[in-house]
Amino acid sequence: MSDHTLARPAAAAAPGDPAARPWWRDAVIYQVYVRSFAAGPGQPAVAGAGNLAGVRSRLRYLADLGVDAVWFNPWYPSPMADAGYDVADYRAIEPSFGTLDEAEKLIAEAHELGIRIILDVVPNHGSDAQPWFTAALAAAPGSPERDRFIFRPGRGPDGDRPPNNWESEFGGPAWTRVPGPGGEPGEWYLHLFTPEQPDFNWGNADVRAEFEDVLRFWFDRGVDGFRIDSAVLLAKDPAMADFDPDAGVHPFVDRDEVHAVYRAWRSIADGYPGDRVLIGEVWLPDVERTTRYLHPGELQTVFNFDFLRCPWDAAELRQVIEATLASHTRVDAPATWVLSNHDVIRNVTRYGRADTSFDRPGYRIGEPTDLVLGTRRARAAALLSLSLPGTAYIYQGEELGLWEVEDLADEDRQDPMWQRSGRQHLGRDGCRVPLPWSGRRPPFGFTDGEAPTWLPQPSSWAGLTVEAESADPASMLSLYRYALQVRHAQPAFTVDSFAWRPAPAEVLCFRRGADVTVMINLSDRPVELPTHEEILAASQPVIRGGSLPPDTGVWLRTRPR
Ligand code: GLC
Repeated sequence: MSDHTLARPAAAAAPGDPAARPWWRDAVIYQVYVRSFAAGPGQPAVAGAGNLAGVRSRLRYLADLGVDAVWFNPWYPSPMADAGYDVADYRAIEPSFGTLDEAEKLIAEAHELGIRIILDVVPNHGSDAQPWFTAALAAAPGSPERDRFIFRPGRGPDGDRPPNNWESEFGGPAWTRVPGPGGEPGEWYLHLFTPEQPDFNWGNADVRAEFEDVLRFWFDRGVDGFRIDSAVLLAKDPAMADFDPDAGVHPFVDRDEVHAVYRAWRSIADGYPGDRVLIGEVWLPDVERTTRYLHPGELQTVFNFDFLRCPWDAAELRQVIEATLASHTRVDAPATWVLSNHDVIRNVTRYGRADTSFDRPGYRIGEPTDLVLGTRRARAAALLSLSLPGTAYIYQGEELGLWEVEDLADEDRQDPMWQRSGRQHLGRDGCRVPLPWSGRRPPFGFTDGEAPTWLPQPSSWAGLTVEAESADPASMLSLYRYALQVRHAQPAFTVDSFAWRPAPAEVLCFRRGADVTVMINLSDRPVELPTHEEILAASQPVIRGGSLPPDTGVWLRTRPR
C-alpha cells in the first residue's frame, strides 16, 4: 500500500474559490489501451503487444501532451476473449503487461508528473477462468457458488432451450449450457457478451462485497477513479422474463435496482481523500434516465455518447450540446465530450465519409473515405471538444490523427464480434492497432526490434509517428499539444459559463467565460470572424482579412462582455 500524492494537488481553498473545484469537472482524460500503446524498451513484447513498462517509458509523452488523467482499459489477468473485458483476477496485473509492483510504480510516477490514474472496473461479468466461476461449475445447481452467477434450467421437456430469449451483445444467445454432475446436459448460465464472460448475480451479497473490496484495493494504491464498464447492465429481472420490446421495464438494461450499487460505491470513493471519481459507461437513449446516474451520491460523470455518435453537422451538434448542457446543469454534473474510443470507428475516417454519423463499428467498413477531409474536420472537432464546458476525452492515437485500419486480413482480426457475428460484423480491431512512435516502417518503434505488432500497422502511418509529428508544427499532435496548453492557461475554459453567439446556420459560435469565443465553421464557404483581440488557436490558418475557412475551428480572445 502506498500513499501517493499528486505533485500538482488541488490546493486547500475557501468555498467558492476556483481552486476548490474538483479536478474531474474539467479534466482532459487520455485513454490508454495498454495492448496497443507501447512496449517497454529492452523487454520483449509478448506477441507484439504493449505493456506497463511501455506506458512507464512514455509517461513523459503524456505529460508533455498536457493531459490531466489517464484511463486504462482493463489491465488485469485475462484470457483475452474480449481484449481484457473478461477479467480473471481483479486484484492483479495481466502477466504479459507486467506486475502489481510495476503498476504501483506507474501510479507513483504518473502522480509525480501531475497525471491522475483511472482504472476500468468490469462489474457486469467476469471471465470463465475466474476461480469463482470454476467453483460454480464444479458445484451443484442451487449451491451458493452458482448463486454468484446466473444459472437457470433450460426450457422445454429436456431443458434444451435457453431459459429466455435474451441475446448476446456480440450475437447469438446470451446463454450457454454446462454439463450436470454426471456429465449429462445441465443448467444454462447467462452471458450478455461472449460465453467466456459469465454475468455476475448482483442480487448476491458476495458479489456486492467483492466489488466494494476491489474498489478499496485500488483506491488504497492511489488510483484516482474508475470507469465503470457496462454500468447499466448489472441488475437483472429476477423472473428472467423474455425481452419484450413493448414491455415498459427492460429485463436487464437500466433497471432501478442498479442505482443502489453506485450509491454504495460513491460512499466508498468519498471515504478517500483527494476527489476520487466514478465515471459510468451509460449508453442510453433517454437523457432523463442517463442523468439519474448523476444524482447526488451516485456517479460524478458519465460518457456522452450522443456527442460521440453525432454527425458532422452544425444543427445536430448544436442540439446535442444544448441538450447535454441542460440535462447536466440540472443535476450539477460536468458534461463529457468524447470523439472516439476503443469500441467505435476512428473519427478521422468517419468524418471523411458522405455519411458522418456514428454507426456500430465495422458495418460500414470499406465505404469511400476522404482522409484529407476527415483529418481536417477532426482538427476542428478537437478544438470543439476541448473548448466545451466539462471534461474531454482523447482516445490514444486521436492526437496523431490515426485513421481506422480497414484492410486488416481476416486472419488478423481478433475482436470476438467478428467470429460471433458469423464474420458479418468486422468488429473493433481497426481502431485498436498499435501506435506508431518513430521510424519509417512498422513496428514504428512500438517494440524494440522488428517483431510485428499484434494487429499489423499500415506502412502508410510513416508520416503519423510521434517522432514525425513532433517535428511538424502543422501536425495533429502539435495542434493537440498547443490547444491543451491554451486550455490550461485560459481561466475561461475552467468555468461553467457558456453562451451561444449569433452565427450563420452551419456555424457554431459560443462564448466561454468572459473573454473567449469559439467558432467552428461546418459550412462549405468561409465565414467572417467576430471582432477579436487575438487568435488563441486555429485548426487551419485563418484567411487574411479575417475569415474562417470551411471545416475549421478557432479560439479567439474577444473583448470581455
Ligand atoms: C464495454 C467495453 C467493450 C466491451 C464490453 C464488454 O462496452 O467498452 O470494449 O467489449 O463492455 O465488457
